[in-house]
Amino acid sequence: MSKKLFIKTYGCQMNVYDSARMADVLAPLGYTQAPAPDGADMVILNTCHIREKAAEKVYSELGRIRALKQEKQAGGGDMVIAVAGCVAQAEGAEIMRRAPYVDVVFGPQAYHRLPEMVARATRHQGDVLDTEFPVESKFDHLPEEMGARGVSAFLTVQEGCDKFCTFCVVPYTRGAEFSRPAADIVAEARRLVDAGSREIILLGQNVNAYHGDGPDGGTWSLGRLIRELAEIDGLERLRYTTSHPLEMTDDLIAAHGDVPALMPFLHLPVQSGSDRVLEAMNRRHRRDDYFRVIDKLRAARPDIALSGDFIVGFPDESDADFERTLDLVRRVGYAQAYSFKYSPRPGTPAAALQYGQIAEPVKAERLLALQVLLNEQQLAFNQACIGRDLAVLFDRDGREAGQAIGRSPYMQSVHVNDCDTMIGVLADVRIERALANSLAGRLMDGAEASAHAA
Ligand code: SAH
Ligand code: SF4
Ligand code: F3S
Repeated sequence: MSKKLFIKTYGCQMNVYDSARMADVLAPLGYTQAPAPDGADMVILNTCHIREKAAEKVYSELGRIRALKQEKQAGGGDMVIAVAGCVAQAEGAEIMRRAPYVDVVFGPQAYHRLPEMVARATRHQGDVLDTEFPVESKFDHLPEEMGARGVSAFLTVQEGCDKFCTFCVVPYTRGAEFSRPAADIVAEARRLVDAGSREIILLGQNVNAYHGDGPDGGTWSLGRLIRELAEIDGLERLRYTTSHPLEMTDDLIAAHGDVPALMPFLHLPVQSGSDRVLEAMNRRHRRDDYFRVIDKLRAARPDIALSGDFIVGFPDESDADFERTLDLVRRVGYAQAYSFKYSPRPGTPAAALQYGQIAEPVKAERLLALQVLLNEQQLAFNQACIGRDLAVLFDRDGREAGQAIGRSPYMQSVHVNDCDTMIGVLADVRIERALANSLAGRLMDGAEASAHAA
């Protein structure tokens, strides 16, 4: 009999990938995914620990899920509640204590063991806590993907991080850097394309540090892997995220120049524009190193669009340091970016600093100033697309009837009206309007005809 599984995903794309894989692991046990938690037989919260707000959300959501569990129990049924992901890894025992109605807690490297955990929980053999970093890679134990992953599919190629930026929990929640063998990745990519995916986004906390075993006995870099994947028939687009500036090797940069499937968009977080702050963050590069990488990327692919992550209010960040960040942003010119107030995370070196924690209003003021600048840049980038024809890969229907939505090569959302469903179609769109977060345009002649044929 089919059982209802509800998974709620927080955090980064790697969690999105993991959630899909958890559903694959549970499918042979009869679980099918449901869009809401009401009445579910199992609820998994796949959590994120990156900032305090992200972690706290979990406990309020657990309160709501608990009420649903009680409702189900009152009717004679039951619901298994599981907490997965980075909060589970970081504070597993704390979750069991604060929310004793949780049945299963497991970390990002343990979900291939879900069948045993679920069996124990449903037989009421006590709570299950599995936050071991296994000797064996979970990837060796995961079943093949069940079913399609959509037009644009995530594929994790690398996990973990050995960089230890002083603000960041990832090295602790995800463990050491690990790269999957290239042959496994290529096989997974082929299956995704056979199942209908047209774009693959390669994922890793430090994706450009990828160094996996190659089928030729050598070690493959990300650039090498991308060149191999680009040969797959029917795969139109490749992207990768998230990268560290130090790992932007010449071979990867060159791929941006000569692999047409590799899209001209790169998320390359720098965090700060001040060398003093970069050093305190243990980023291991200076602002000039970052500029040099950008120059090389632009030489290889002049139209490459850049995205980044920024942290304001890192301990001891002065007004002058912050000005250096604004200056870096002005010099680079971003198509899009994320910015955050520094959030002290338990167990990280920066949180333990006894001096220099920045007051909340100062953080808020700096964040606002940075976001005003980044939003201006994003709007300017979008406006510069008006009148151009951009290749759009359509991946969903819009809210209004006859509306289709896809992505430009530069990762912008593009809306088109008055058309049939376009999902899976790659077509040229003449851009007519630009908003802060999206573009709108019309299909060029012939595009719709080919859409119908597709
Ligand atoms: N591996 C990626 C990003 C990991 S986390 C990288 O190296 O860039 C995603 C983003 O969250 C980071 O780039 C950083 O900008 C932000 N972040 C991480 N820890 C944070 C913290 N303690 N406070 C605020 N933002 C943080
Ligand atoms: Fe965190 Fe730094 Fe590793 Fe990125 S490189 S995951 S910010 S420790
Ligand atoms: Fe969050 Fe873990 Fe990803 S902390 S950002 S879910 S790696």
